[in-house]
Amino acid sequence: MTTEQQVATHYGNAGIAERVLAALHAAHGPEAPVTVDLLAPLDQFHGRGLAATQELVALLQPREGERLLDIGSGIGGPARWIAARFRVHVTGVDLTPEFCAAAEALNLAAGLADRVRIIRGSALGLPVPDEAFDAAYSQNVVMNIADKPGFYREAFRALRPGGRLALSNVCAGTEGEPYFPVPWATTRETSFLASPDEMRADLAAAGFAIVDFRDTSDAIVEQQRRNRERLLRGEMPRVAADIILGARAREMQVNSIRSTEEGRTRMVEALVRKPG
Ligand SMILES: C[S@@+](CC[C@H](N)C(=O)[O-])C[C@H]1O[C@@H](n2cnc3c(N)ncnc32)[C@H](O)[C@@H]1O
Repeated sequence: MTTEQQVATHYGNAGIAERVLAALHAAHGPEAPVTVDLLAPLDQFHGRGLAATQELVALLQPREGERLLDIGSGIGGPARWIAARFRVHVTGVDLTPEFCAAAEALNLAAGLADRVRIIRGSALGLPVPDEAFDAAYSQNVVMNIADKPGFYREAFRALRPGGRLALSNVCAGTEGEPYFPVPWATTRETSFLASPDEMRADLAAAGFAIVDFRDTSDAIVEQQRRNRERLLRGEMPRVAADIILGARAREMQVNSIRSTEEGRTRMVEALVRKPG
């Protein structure tokens, strides 16, 4: 099995859109409209959910009518929320077939199929033309990708001159490897973490100018510690990770938070720009 097949096998399972919609209606009633705000706890598949997407968007600052690329779009939560909120068009590319199917079903359910397009494909060979996008973002994806220079080169190719890329990356810490399993990998075989310095160097080598680069680990650690305790007590509300990862979700989320608390991982947000 290739790494990409292993990654898709780690994430993929059937019936995700149905479970998301069932959870939305269980929480808000059978007549509840399928809006991006009601979906948000259930379709943002990364640590700290919508709050993390809002931070990334604050860096990216999408403008009405822009064409955005979401690299590793998952089940489409960030793409739908950004498309609805900023009146932009988003193209999502993702490796995992079951995630692409779920994203398309949820786009339809939310009435956003004309604003969010999903393409199954690899970030290392983006199925999009050169210079097709005004801006791009990628949230919690590169930790599945060994060839990070190739990932950034592809993002660079897809952006028009002057285009911007916002990233939310799990990076390597200094205190050893993460505790496995984590939400992004069952074992170390499909987890590839670069240090913040390596991330900067890879971005610069791809041709990007670094506009903003921040390690947010210390700022979020206290809130994450409280989340870890609530997870262990079984007090956390149901979120995308539970719907997608099922019974494995709690252990994976706890391991992920512990890894950051102990300096085994670092959370980095960055905004970079293609010159021109
Ligand atoms: C933790 S999920 C994040 C999903 C989404 N960005 C979000 O925040 O809701 C990581 C995603 O990266 C995708 N992925 C991993 N490696 C990829 C690759 N080489 N090309 C495209 N997508 C990839 C996975 O299929 C998965 O959907």
